[in-house]
Amino acid sequence: MEFELVAPCHFGLEACTKKEISGLGYEISSVTDGRVCFRGDELSVCRANIGLRTAERILIKADEFKAETWDELFEGTRAVAWEELLPRDARVWVANATSVKSKLFSTRDLQRIIQKAVVTRLQAAYGISGRLPMDGADYPLRVSVYKDQVLIGLDTSGDSLHKRGYRKHTVKAPITETLAAALIMLTPWNRDRILIDPFCGSGTFVIEAAMMAASIAPGMERDFTATAWQGLIGRRCWMDAYDEARDRAWAVDRAGLSESLSIQGYDIDEEAVRFARQNAELAGVSDLIHFQRRDIRELSHQKPYGFIITNPPYGERIGEREELPELYRILGERYRGLRDWSMYLITAYEDAQRYIGRSADKNRKIYSGMMKTYFYSYLGGKPPKRGEADR
Ligand SMILES: C[S@@+](CC[C@H](N)C(=O)[O-])C[C@H]1O[C@@H](n2cnc3c(N)ncnc32)[C@H](O)[C@@H]1O
Repeated sequence: MEFELVAPCHFGLEACTKKEISGLGYEISSVTDGRVCFRGDELSVCRANIGLRTAERILIKADEFKAETWDELFEGTRAVAWEELLPRDARVWVANATSVKSKLFSTRDLQRIIQKAVVTRLQAAYGISGRLPMDGADYPLRVSVYKDQVLIGLDTSGDSLHKRGYRKHTVKAPITETLAAALIMLTPWNRDRILIDPFCGSGTFVIEAAMMAASIAPGMERDFTATAWQGLIGRRCWMDAYDEARDRAWAVDRAGLSESLSIQGYDIDEEAVRFARQNAELAGVSDLIHFQRRDIRELSHQKPYGFIITNPPYGERIGEREELPELYRILGERYRGLRDWSMYLITAYEDAQRYIGRSADKNRKIYSGMMKTYFYSYLGGKPPKRGEADR
């Protein structure tokens, strides 16, 4: 079956998700704020859920239509051939509804009316006069209304895709896994280059980077709402997609990689370092990352051309704000001591550049939930190409 699929993603980082989807070989149909749409079949649903690092979830677009009244919403929803998507015993419900700049703004009513329209359609299609059994697999719907345009998607993921399953322990204010992955992708870091997160907390950046280096698919160890479906997406598709992901990871020479890869996570907090180690273990990359309790004051490295990708404190703990000027000053000082390194940091601290002591080469505003943050890029040198080095 051919689907139009929707991948909601971080607002402002759609280009990363688009690139990932194109990399899987699928045709992009549109990119809008916080959402990338593409065409695919049953196998694409499985591959996207298992393999995309930056998407929040994968929806099958059931329909998109204009509705300015509750009647139009009801009729538009009822017109969808729900019986082609949902079995007789589907436990269908509207898990989430949002409305922006639209006449229909009550999300509770959106949920109620869409639910009623879907049930009405299924009762007629399956010849059921009373209540639907609703005792089968889960089929959650997610609805977004923007400028009176209603999009109803059937959620194939369930738990958001940032929940890879490895982050059992977190520190205060961890970055989401999907955002960390997208930010790494925005940098030119690759597995041949040194990577340090000197404020690693629960280890998200370094774990995501190690998973990329080792070709470990983010969804390889978890399941999804649609894995329990029968019919629409068969068991075979899921097994094929999991197998493909495993084959890609197994094709990597792990011993060679752990020799050559240089990824380090440091934090001043002993407990954070312990958590990060445990998370890396769960993610299957503990052999690829070196964790250590270390103060930013001790950051140094002999080799040139490395990368810092990090999320320093920004005042999220009580009493921390007063320490920020000194902390960022030290970060700037330590960074300047690293030869030809690049530094990328995401922070909500408005005075970061001032105390680092240098304006960033690039600055991108990124919303992390409702919080405005900045992603600063300090560009370092590039290693000479092999031929040039020999010269
Ligand atoms: C915003 S959190 C990082 C969260 C992390 N990105 C994650 O996903 O879990 C900032 C971290 O900086 C650490 N930290 C604070 N002061 C530090 C210092 N002087 N040197 C090294 N780490 C420090 C804190 O312990 C905390 O874990």
